[in-house]
Amino acid sequence: MKPEGMKNSDRNYERNYNRYMDNDVPKFTFPSKGMRARAAYQLIHDELNLDGNPDLNLATFVTTWMEPEADRLIIENLHKNFIDHFEYPQVNVIEERIVNILANLYNIPDNYNFVGTSTIGSSEAIMLGLLAHKWNWKLRCIKENKSHDKPNIVFGGDTHVSWDKFARYFDVEPRIVPLKKDRYVIGPDDVRKKIDENTIAVGAVLGTTFTGEFDPVADLNDMLLDVKHDLGLDIPIHVDAASAGFITPFYEPNFKWDFRLEQVKSINTSGHKFGLVYPGLGWLIFRDESLLPEDLKFYVNYLGDEMPTYTLNFSEGSSMVVAQYYNIMKLGFDGYSTIANKMMGNAHYLAERIAKSGSFKLLNGASHIPVVTFEQKEKKKFTLFDLSYKLRERGWIVPAYSLPPEANDTTIMRVVVRENFTSDMVDIFVQDLMNAEKALENGNPSPTKAYSRKAHSVS
Ligand SMILES: Cc1ncc(COP(=O)(O)O)c(C=O)c1O
Repeated sequence: MKPEGMKNSDRNYERNYNRYMDNDVPKFTFPSKGMRARAAYQLIHDELNLDGNPDLNLATFVTTWMEPEADRLIIENLHKNFIDHFEYPQVNVIEERIVNILANLYNIPDNYNFVGTSTIGSSEAIMLGLLAHKWNWKLRCIKENKSHDKPNIVFGGDTHVSWDKFARYFDVEPRIVPLKKDRYVIGPDDVRKKIDENTIAVGAVLGTTFTGEFDPVADLNDMLLDVKHDLGLDIPIHVDAASAGFITPFYEPNFKWDFRLEQVKSINTSGHKFGLVYPGLGWLIFRDESLLPEDLKFYVNYLGDEMPTYTLNFSEGSSMVVAQYYNIMKLGFDGYSTIANKMMGNAHYLAERIAKSGSFKLLNGASHIPVVTFEQKEKKKFTLFDLSYKLRERGWIVPAYSLPPEANDTTIMRVVVRENFTSDMVDIFVQDLMNAEKALENGNPSPTKAYSRKAHSVS
């Protein structure tokens, strides 16, 4: 409260009530009293300045910029709980339209009755997809009077952690095809050795988290068709297209990875990656509704009718589904194609410059998605981890990491080329990368200085 007799113009009032440096932030217990909105805002805002700058975050696949009209729709729909279909039926209609659009984008054949859902991200979509396959396998075992206590799933060491999570959380034996030095995806022969009648599904990743490469889905499909023909085992493929799901249909429309392949029964993608929507949004599409067991559907009341839902969460925001629809409507196939081509062009340019630098060896120069990965050409007195830290001085966030087991003597760096990473930004980044290298080689702690000297001498 303002002390009695104090005017707003009073200097004390200004100091005590409009400024905020005397306020403590709650760290352990609920504060007994609140504070002025402006103070609370400013304290949190200032503290969050310690976070990295999302625009310079080359580590993330996740969208960091959307158009102002999309931002407006997001704010307008933030307060709508997506699960309340009775209250907000139209958001649900929009979700269904997007499922239709994606199923068609993924070349669903005419004779299938696809179903799908939005999710919080690809992780939830992967769990739900694989859970359905586990359930179908179990129902088949029961029907055939076989035991159903030892399900397994076959995927590569190149998959995202959400696959291991699924296996552990849902009690399925993970049969992981290990990676090898210089081979960072899986092949049909290795997978063939691991499948049997208790295999609930085979996983294929389009755009691995580690190197951005593609598992050979068409070869896996051919192998599983042979298995079906020879042994009568009908093992589904779940394609994890977290990244490629919004790139390949636009950049390489003739590349066959989707429902054109018979054994591909379900696909996930992340709306918040190259779907160009902020986090968190994912999508899961099943080739046919028969793949989604009735037992796994839950019904919520919808305008006096019962609406089936298939989700691990309950409440969630509506904004991102709406934002996805905005992008689809605003950009169209043409707009997504232009952006995908632009990102791929910039990624190829980055790969070329990194290869030419002489210091690094490319593992993947954006073969299918705009991701560039590279390792040091030769051992140096500093590692890529050091380089990653050094680049932080200029604001760049670039991850360095070791590859999964059996390939883990290789340490790499990965750059995800998103829409805002223009060729000009590539130039600045490569210059900073070289300067950081030089600084580390010379034991010079400041690549920033090296950069500004260069910049001044040019101007
Ligand atoms: C191949 C792959 N699958 C799944 C995921 C998890 O996606 P999300 O963050 O949308 O849950 C990622 C995340 O980077 C990924 O790269």
